Amino acid sequence: MRPISPRKLSINNSRPILLPFSLLVTSFLLYTLFNHTFTSSKPSSLSSATSSVSLFLSLSPSANASISHDLRSLTLRPHLAGTPGAASTASFVLSRLRKAGLETFSRRYSPLLSFPSHSSLSLHHANGSLIAALSLSEPADPDRILVPPYHAYSPSGKAVAPAVYANLGREEDFQTLERLGVRVNDCVVLVRKGGGYRGGVVARAAEHGAKAVLISGGPDGGVERGTVILGGPGDPLTPGWGAIGSVTGSGDVERLQVAAEEVRRRFPTIPSMPVAAVTAADILRTLGGPPLPPEWKEGLLETGAGVGPGPTLVNFSYTEERKVAEIQDVFGMIRGREEPDRYIILGNHRDAWTYGAVDPHSGTATFLDIARRFGVMLQSGWRPRRTILLCSWDAEEFGMIGSTEWVEENLDNLHSKAVAYLNVDCAVQGVGFNAATTPQLDKLLIDISKKVNDPDVEGKTVYDTWVSATGGISIERLARADSDFTGFLHHAGIPSLDMYYGNEFAGYHTALDSFGWMQTKGDPLFHRHLAIAEIWGLFAVRLADDLILPFDYQSYASQLEEYVHALCDFLDEKLSLEPIHAAIKDLHDAANDAFTEGQKLELQHISGTDAGLRIRALNDRLMLAERSFLQEEGLDGRHWFKHLLYSPPEDYESKLSFFTNIADAISRSKRFKGREERLAIRHQIWLVSRAITKVGQVLRGKIL
Ligand SMILES: *[C@@H]1O[C@H](CO)[C@@H](O)[C@H](O)[C@H]1NC(C)=O
Ligand SMILES: *[C@@H]1O[C@H](CO)[C@@H](O)[C@H](O)[C@H]1NC(C)=O
Ligand SMILES: *[C@@H]1O[C@H](CO)[C@@H](O)[C@H](O)[C@H]1NC(C)=O
Repeated sequence: MRPISPRKLSINNSRPILLPFSLLVTSFLLYTLFNHTFTSSKPSSLSSATSSVSLFLSLSPSANASISHDLRSLTLRPHLAGTPGAASTASFVLSRLRKAGLETFSRRYSPLLSFPSHSSLSLHHANGSLIAALSLSEPADPDRILVPPYHAYSPSGKAVAPAVYANLGREEDFQTLERLGVRVNDCVVLVRKGGGYRGGVVARAAEHGAKAVLISGGPDGGVERGTVILGGPGDPLTPGWGAIGSVTGSGDVERLQVAAEEVRRRFPTIPSMPVAAVTAADILRTLGGPPLPPEWKEGLLETGAGVGPGPTLVNFSYTEERKVAEIQDVFGMIRGREEPDRYIILGNHRDAWTYGAVDPHSGTATFLDIARRFGVMLQSGWRPRRTILLCSWDAEEFGMIGSTEWVEENLDNLHSKAVAYLNVDCAVQGVGFNAATTPQLDKLLIDISKKVNDPDVEGKTVYDTWVSATGGISIERLARADSDFTGFLHHAGIPSLDMYYGNEFAGYHTALDSFGWMQTKGDPLFHRHLAIAEIWGLFAVRLADDLILPFDYQSYASQLEEYVHALCDFLDEKLSLEPIHAAIKDLHDAANDAFTEGQKLELQHISGTDAGLRIRALNDRLMLAERSFLQEEGLDGRHWFKHLLYSPPEDYESKLSFFTNIADAISRSKRFKGREERLAIRHQIWLVSRAITKVGQVLRGKIL
């Protein structure tokens, strides 16, 4: 699952980031001086990081062929989570990891999933007589091989009502309708896809009084399946703990009742369904009422006189089958040589709505290539300094369930031992490199992108084309909850990365997401896959083998400063941001000190001084600093989300994608303006400044 339009920072974050050049020069010199091989009895960690980087890259020739081969195997059949097809994909991945020589294991969970049982749609005259039965199938899947289009966790329900067309279903679209004098109350709302998270579109329509929502697919005949779950990721029946155990052994774990308020809040209150563009046209053609604003016609096959409501009636009914079903996460592990209790975690999901050539197996095939290379490296004598864990998640499409249950089950160990989480979902959906990180990983990302050949421009690196395409480096942040980094970052506070080639894949979650599309359009030579494999793999190798963790908190402090400037536009002048400014200044100093300390320790290590424990202590501080953004009791009203800086804002349309607690307080204050709301925002500003101060304190590691 990737967003249709991934949200970039709402401020200009194209800020060139300078690498500490001195560090690069030192590392290079040291490498040249101490170029140990892996077989030497006491390898220098600096040189071992450098040589594992070259070894990893030396395994690139013909990797594109094996990636393409694996992608074909993975996409032969549909394999939706909780269905029989899913089990064979799990064994395929498991056998590939084993073949590479990795230690493997798997973990089963039994969450509540949601499948379509029955649905119907018809169009009637105002007097009730039938005009036509409308198709709810997907034109791009004529043989009906795939699960019929549906929205996971849409409740069962029916509506016989006039339809209203609401463009993309954003708040501004409902306001436009209001200006046109159109009320959607008790109507079936028809929108086209593209208005942000579909669960948000449905919830908004319900707030405006709609009885049901139909979301139209694109003119290419694809119909976009997807989840409409609300309020965060993971199994709705086990919020905050793992849904361990099998389907039959119901006594294994506490499960909330489906009727419990906490569970009911996770589902929309009205039914919804994705429909084909031709089906939407059948309805639109019959609508009267005020004429459509011209820009609302974009992407529609046909329209009628107006936006509605009616005069025709739509008869829609949907029956959901909700059931606890078994899912399976699969793992490959390489135990660290010196610090086996420090984890570099790579993850990709394995379940797909359809064939999943883009989503997720462009990522899975890349993931398996990394496993293959690690296998070869192990045979040549390499063992990483820290443990590398490769995770293949299930049931991501229902709401990041496989990864969330695993994070929840392992939360305490992850808090104390996880260095970073590196996610790839759709590795390739078109042209152009995109990456999102927590800011301490920026420099490492830039450094690595300079080592990888651009897949589309001969003689250039990924870095070169990335800079020229965006006029500087533009790194997204992760205040969205649309892939498996959610549990790791928003719940557990683990530094995270997410990346992909291309944007806005038209066949997203449709029958068009097939190997054929990838081979003819997405990545005919599989060079973009190769680039992601290299960047992702080098990230793992550097984090696993670098003596001092390549985390840069100066970059974090600079990013925070930009946020504070951007925040000013959203606040009234009476609110002082001084506490945050002061905390950031302190963080800058702490980050500088940590950097200097790292350089000194590297030199001592090279000159033979035993600095092992001091290195470990510095690395622990670097690893743990991100956790200080966590607020133990979670955000107001959304306890599962604990990251103050990068949890997704409560309002799906929020313009702020950082300082989530402040963003939420601002959205709430828009509804009721007053002194109390200002005090609430002021309190959140203090919370953020205390969190930033804690980051600095953890980096320093001194008890005051
Ligand atoms: C219902 O209305 C339609 C269109 O106005 C008309 O063609 C049809 O004859 C009517 N049917 C009945 C049963 O009144
Ligand atoms: C609406 O459709 C359902 C299911 O096909 C059908 O049972 C019902 O009679 C229809 N209602 C009306 C008013 O046409
Ligand atoms: C892999 O790349 C090579 C070199 O560009 C190309 O000749 C080959 O066709 C590619 N293989 C596949 C399967 O796309």
